[in-house]
Amino acid sequence: MIKKGIILSGGMGTRMSPLTKAVNKQLLPIYDKPLIYYPLSILMLAKIKNVLIIVNKGELNQYKKLLPNGKNLGMNITYKEQSSPRGLPDAFILGEKFIGKDNVALILGDNFFYGQNLSNQLLNSVKLKKGAKIILHRVSKPELYGVAKINQQKKVLTIKEKPKKFLSDLAITGLYFFDNNVIKFAKKLKPSKRGELEIVDLINKYKKNKKLSADLIGRGGAWLDSGSIEDFYKTSSFVAAIENRQGFKIACLEEISYTNGWINKIQIQKAIKFYGNCEYSKYLSKLI
Ligand code: DAU
Repeated sequence: MIKKGIILSGGMGTRMSPLTKAVNKQLLPIYDKPLIYYPLSILMLAKIKNVLIIVNKGELNQYKKLLPNGKNLGMNITYKEQSSPRGLPDAFILGEKFIGKDNVALILGDNFFYGQNLSNQLLNSVKLKKGAKIILHRVSKPELYGVAKINQQKKVLTIKEKPKKFLSDLAITGLYFFDNNVIKFAKKLKPSKRGELEIVDLINKYKKNKKLSADLIGRGGAWLDSGSIEDFYKTSSFVAAIENRQGFKIACLEEISYTNGWINKIQIQKAIKFYGNCEYSKYLSKLI
């Protein structure tokens, strides 16, 4: 069982400047909550209690105001600063001590997942003992992402970062599951032409050893990544439409924790005090 997860929540958010000049992208709102709540909720749905959040140097205090140490959620949240965006595999180099001898999940701070069978799929993925698992989703503009070509048995044939020539329309989402070899493999990587350690190079190491598996989020599920201002508005509208129609919130951290049995009513009351008089608090009061 994978019991540890890393959220990579740094980056410069250049495409969203000036919004990201003073505030990190993952702290900006997707409808009614900060973006980082969504990837954190995914780890929580996977029953991962032990989380390392990697943030940009100098931005730790902003994050800690929102997510201090996880105790309020019945979790353990720790932080590590990244001095510059060296690439996604840097998560495993910075996270070496946190990971220890265990296996680990990685989720990118700007990734949003929603879907009916998602929780079951997550609980299945954290069973990984050996190798690596990637999660794929069909998209209309694969050239914007890492993509994977698979055969009918879901065997991964080729993977490539942002291919200029069409390879497949299956994007590699920013949610990955790795065995402990990931630290060793990440340390051996060399920066690519764009000067970053590449996640596809890391995944390719598993592929070469025949230790890579893939899972698909079907048409009933949604995966969105929020790299541009347009994405932020689209994802916000999506969340607003679902929440207002159903009356349920997406990524209400305290609700997931309460349902997981990690916190009780007293901690929900404390959360209501923490958030103050707002819609989010009203939702929490309805829960108890
Ligand atoms: O969203 C899925 C895609 O994410 C994958 O399909 C690609 O294979 C993968 O390379 C990545 O592509 P992006 O171009 O979206 O990566 P980006 O540089 O935008 O970084 C994604 C998030 O990770 C973003 O929230 C910032 C954070 N980040 C990124 C880097 C490179 C860090 O915290 N540190 C870093 O060093």
